[in-house]
Amino acid sequence: MDTYSYGMVGLGVMGRNLLYNIAENGFSIVGFDLDIQKINDLQGGATAEMTVAGTDSLEEFVAKLETPRKIILMVPAGKPVDAVLENIKPLLSKGDIVIDAGNSYFKDTNRRVADLAVLGLHFMGMGVSGGEKGARFGPSIMPGGDLEAFHSVRPMLEAISAKVNGEACTAYMGQDAAGHYVKMVHNGIEYAVMQLISEAYDLLRKGADLNNDQLHEIFKDWNNGELNSFLIEITRDIFQQKDPVTGGFLVDQILDKAGSKGTGKWTSEEALENGVAIPTIDAAVASRTLSSYKSERVQASQLYSKSAIARAENTELFIQEVRDALFLATLISYTQGLSLLVKASEEYQFHIPLKDVVKIWRGGCIIRSSLLEKFYEVYSEDSNLSNILLSQDIAEIVNSKISSLRKTIVFSTSNGISTLAFQTALAYFDAYTTESLPINLIQAQRDYFGAHTYQRKDQDGFFHTSWNTNN
Ligand code: 6PG
Repeated sequence: MDTYSYGMVGLGVMGRNLLYNIAENGFSIVGFDLDIQKINDLQGGATAEMTVAGTDSLEEFVAKLETPRKIILMVPAGKPVDAVLENIKPLLSKGDIVIDAGNSYFKDTNRRVADLAVLGLHFMGMGVSGGEKGARFGPSIMPGGDLEAFHSVRPMLEAISAKVNGEACTAYMGQDAAGHYVKMVHNGIEYAVMQLISEAYDLLRKGADLNNDQLHEIFKDWNNGELNSFLIEITRDIFQQKDPVTGGFLVDQILDKAGSKGTGKWTSEEALENGVAIPTIDAAVASRTLSSYKSERVQASQLYSKSAIARAENTELFIQEVRDALFLATLISYTQGLSLLVKASEEYQFHIPLKDVVKIWRGGCIIRSSLLEKFYEVYSEDSNLSNILLSQDIAEIVNSKISSLRKTIVFSTSNGISTLAFQTALAYFDAYTTESLPINLIQAQRDYFGAHTYQRKDQDGFFHTSWNTNN
């Protein structure tokens, strides 16, 4: 019987495309799915150069693999992953490697690493970003977990991943669930940047009366400059897409109610859990939630009618300010996500290499952007930065754009245009760069009503005062 170097469990859109990518790079691979139709589709789409096979029998699938076996799971996160593991575990042998390439919750991954280690099996959590096209032609791949297992799949991962300046967009992200953790934070940043882009769109259409053709041109221009990124690029194209039903623009027919699969929420929960401030990511999660209150928003908009939006006085200048505000707020969103990685890396002993994180995010993934090239330079000089805002180079960029962010927010708030993400980015920046915050007063209040004590500026230790109670 023919044997294969890799196995893929789950032949949905992502699994099938990743399998073709692996096969195209010269690795033989067998796919498993219970759905016969998917197996037929797999064979139909393979080229003559690819060595691929498909089966709906798990026993046959396992038997077809070279040992130690290397199996990739591309099934929905949660129960389906556990179900596959339960069924496949009895068929595997010591030393086999199972790689979960879905968007699994990192705590589930930690549990599975431990469960499979008992049986002598290597389990790796691996974030894969880039959607369907990325999976097929070069995603950003974030593997973590067992180092020995990583080394045996490394040549394949490097072959199939996206390349930037000849460098593969994959690297070892650290121990245990580090790969899934990094992918979770990637998605948190993805939420923030998408929210910022949508707020910029709202400002431009409402504040400068720009239509979709004009917005297309603006995003095209932005994508040719320092805002160059995948998300700006697809936004540029979205403004051109026509709706076959109405003949108008499709974007205008899409209901303003966002869906989500949970990775943004997990990022916010994790930040709260670890005492890290990521308010722009939180705002992006909250904005999706607010968007879901569609009928209440319609009702409230009638109760609280707003005065007409004052059109920006100088359209050219306004567009430039929104562009710079978007660039800066995007930078601050990455900053927040990266600061969570720093803390989590310590907390969970993941040993996440930040320099490699920004390096492999430069290509293939949803948040790829030219800005990451700058971050890569910064971390190459100092890989221990706790917050990228502490870099002199980054400070120069921020200082040159901060007034645009302020002006954009003034415009939005005075005109009643909601910019939750922009505002939290600025507020985060202002708090982070303020030597003296008013939190002395909070400490006084805590001590006043609860004897919680406070620290002094001039002496070490904790103090309590019997406050003057005049009431
Ligand atoms: C990626 C994406 C991908 C997925 C998001 C969507 O990196 O390729 O992040 O994983 O499209 O998870 O997430 P929501 O449905 O929560 O927006």
